[in-house]
Amino acid sequence: MGFNQSVDVIVIGAGAAGMMCAAQAGQRGRRVVLVDHAEKRAEKIRISGGGRCNFTNLNVSAANFLSSNPHFCRSALARYTPQDFIALVQRHGIRYHEKTLGQLFCDESSAQIIEMLERECADGQVHWAQPARVLDVAHEAAAGYRVRTDRGEFDAPSLVIATGGLSIPKIGATDFGYRIAHQFDIPVVTPRPALVPLTLDRATLDALAPLAGVAFTVEARCGDGRFREQALVTHKGLSGPAILQISSYWQAACAAGHPEPVVLDLFAGDDADAWLDAHANSNALPGNLLAERLPRRFARAWAQLQGAERALAQMSERERQALAQALSHWALTPSGTQGFAKAEVTLGGVDTRALSSKTMAATARPGLYFIGEVVDVTGHLGGYNFQWAWASGHAAAQAL
Ligand code: FDA
Repeated sequence: MGFNQSVDVIVIGAGAAGMMCAAQAGQRGRRVVLVDHAEKRAEKIRISGGGRCNFTNLNVSAANFLSSNPHFCRSALARYTPQDFIALVQRHGIRYHEKTLGQLFCDESSAQIIEMLERECADGQVHWAQPARVLDVAHEAAAGYRVRTDRGEFDAPSLVIATGGLSIPKIGATDFGYRIAHQFDIPVVTPRPALVPLTLDRATLDALAPLAGVAFTVEARCGDGRFREQALVTHKGLSGPAILQISSYWQAACAAGHPEPVVLDLFAGDDADAWLDAHANSNALPGNLLAERLPRRFARAWAQLQGAERALAQMSERERQALAQALSHWALTPSGTQGFAKAEVTLGGVDTRALSSKTMAATARPGLYFIGEVVDVTGHLGGYNFQWAWASGHAAAQAL
């Protein structure tokens, strides 16, 4: 590709959404250049799903996403479904399996998804400019969007921003997309780390940190979020799927200015009251008795934290009820999160109220598109974030 190149579409960010969009626009006959600053291609796909890429989920609906504009994602998700992506994966002969809760993973390696997208881009004759540092972006009436990079200058009537969110800066995440939004007067909902481990206050941490590595099933609740999955004690607080899921809702509540505690039901929906009633005559300490339901070391530490150190038989009914309430509504106020360094995704991003839900184009800036995680649409854990990347990339490509 020459130093000054005019094309139909410039896509910045060759991750999940950018590759999908570039491939499909290329296959529709558009001349596409795909620009990325990273040395390696699609690192986030590579490290995803523990190296096996949880590439979609069988059960996708708008309810699996958080956004300041909850209906925005519907149109794109309806027009590119998990079945569409599964058909693509099958066409490329990639073997996969359902792990749990509709989550689909490669049998072998996430590298297969990257190779598949590279083949799709090759089919669309997409030109790669990678690694290429973007120096600036401008819009000129005659030339359209002009992107100046250290690998040459490109201009095109359409520019697609697919630079993702802020999580894991050490593999190339930047705030580029938000800066471009600001440059073109498009509002951004403040980005926050999501699907992220939570940190706890000193007193709770002193009791729990020695148990780092211990896992147990909970129902985690906060705002509209409710997840029955595993929680995991860490050296800094809590993690595990239930905690990662609920962290997004906790962050959303904080962002809305009404922080709420994270509530953990340690009986995961079972009736703690009835269970304690059935043991009302027990001479065992609560910490020992609860070891029937929870990992022993955790049960003891938790009972100690609650000050529940008398045998059940010695407790009044009111004390037993208070213990049951604490078991099913253990309210924790996180001291914070482990930040973007440990977050799987970014909550917030380019404000969807400024975008067309059909095409992902900025309504006030013809030819400028935002797709994938840079947009204020954040999926649950379980393949939903990739499905959003595929679907939003596809939506934009149909309009290019
Ligand atoms: P993505 O981050 O994929 O791509 C952005 C691209 O833009 C990158 O290639 C980057 O180098 C480039 N870029 C950034 N700044 C730039 C700049 N200034 N100039 C040029 N290029 C720039 N989701 C899921 O559904 N299933 C899963 O199994 C997992 N697993 C997982 C594990 C881990 C550890 C993380 C951190 C995340 C996940 N995710 C996930 C989330 C998923 O990876 C994420 O939502 C998608 O990759 C988002 O796709 P995008 O294309 O929007 O961004």
